[in-house]
Amino acid sequence: MALLPILEFPDPRLRTRAEPVTVFDASLLRLVDDMFETMYAAPGIGLAASQVDVHRQLIVMDVSNDRSEPLVFINPQILGRSEVGTMEEGCLSVPGIFDTVERAQRVRVRAQDRHGATFERDLDGILAVCLQHEMDHLDGKLFVDYLSSLKRDRIRRKLEKERRERGPQSTAAKVPAGAALAP
Ligand code: NI
Repeated sequence: MALLPILEFPDPRLRTRAEPVTVFDASLLRLVDDMFETMYAAPGIGLAASQVDVHRQLIVMDVSNDRSEPLVFINPQILGRSEVGTMEEGCLSVPGIFDTVERAQRVRVRAQDRHGATFERDLDGILAVCLQHEMDHLDGKLFVDYLSSLKRDRIRRKLEKERRERGPQSTAAKVPAGAALAP
């Protein structure tokens, strides 16, 4: 297994639309394992392949405290959504930034697992919000796109300043301990 570098806002590669996964082979299984390792190490609760510069429709998530509920969604489609609510979100590609976003509080999703088997599942609360956040990544969209352009510019300048201070060799995303909700 290997830790994969996470792209950070405003990297234009994060704007790439992901293509469907069509081949379920050993290299896909390896990518899933590497994405879980990268997400757990960050630490985060969700990671889309787009964030590690692989533009395929693949998401890993685990919102448990003890890494006991790993979930894989390949080629996900939302079949139904409930009423919207708000929740504070963060993102491993926008390190250290948290803000409130409005999303459906329950969704029904159809996706494939790592072996290509199709399943449907109802998600609510943080699982539903996290899935929608990760599916946005597959469309080249980030949670900061829901904020005002003024706020987004401020975030971009802050992250660019932090990257300059961190130096050229350290580009891995760092999220402070306690930042639990960082999909
Ligand atoms: Ni994210």
